[in-house]
Amino acid sequence: MDTRGRMTKDGIRIYEDADFEGMRKAGRLAAEILDRIIPYVQPGVTTGELDKRVEDMVNEAGATSATIGYKGYKHATCISINHVVCHGIPSDKRLHDGDILNIDVTVIVDGWFGDTSRMYVAGHLPRKAERLIDVTHEALMRGIEAVKPGNTFGDIGHAIQSFVEKNRMSVVRDFCGHGLGRVFHAPPNVLHYGRAGTGPVLEEGMFFTIEPMVNIGRPETKVLADDWTAVTRDKSLSAQFEHSIGVTATGAEIFTLSPAGKFYPTWD
Ligand code: MF3
Ligand code: CO
Ligand code: CO
Repeated sequence: MDTRGRMTKDGIRIYEDADFEGMRKAGRLAAEILDRIIPYVQPGVTTGELDKRVEDMVNEAGATSATIGYKGYKHATCISINHVVCHGIPSDKRLHDGDILNIDVTVIVDGWFGDTSRMYVAGHLPRKAERLIDVTHEALMRGIEAVKPGNTFGDIGHAIQSFVEKNRMSVVRDFCGHGLGRVFHAPPNVLHYGRAGTGPVLEEGMFFTIEPMVNIGRPETKVLADDWTAVTRDKSLSAQFEHSIGVTATGAEIFTLSPAGKFYPTWD
């Protein structure tokens, strides 16, 4: 339950200035964990091993995993390889050279949620995958650039969709970003497509994620029999980046920036 601040007519919570500090701490830990897992992402490692390391880091920090126990989910991460769009379940599957993967972690620190994901590569990054990852990362950043009081959620979706489609790739429609704060998933649904000027108006004090999933091929997805793993229907490669952000008086504060400056796989 979250009773802080006030609620807009669209049911979106407006947090107080002091609440930003809680989000900074949670976001920083989530981003730090994604930094610290980088050296372990190598051909031959299993996604279950990566997940275990993340779970240990969450516990050592004295934080809580938001995903363990969430709707029956049992892991500290989602790890989505190649044509897996999101919600890949860590397992004894091994990474191969040239695999691209998204690792998504959500932690709870002092009751605040920090949710972020980014792309990794095992071994060499194939050219086609690099282009996809570039476009996806830039789409997220363009979405964030559209965030300021007075703009709308449709402006965010439009910025993302128009950039992705200009690059002849497609935006997944079946999953979206979300409000968060003292809860994991809250209104609004943050769509990664849309028309400028539509949707709820952004106000200072809103906290939400932007987490576009971009496919090289068609946008359609399907969920596998495990009820979690979402894949592209045409088996094309998919990528995703996610930040948790807060709306400030003049723009956005990103809570999940990489402390090591390694949000993108080839930054070093
Ligand atoms: N972290 C994901 C998100 O971005 C949600 C994962 S829920 C899980 O919203 F149960 F699959 F872990
Ligand atoms: Co999220
Ligand atoms: Co996430």
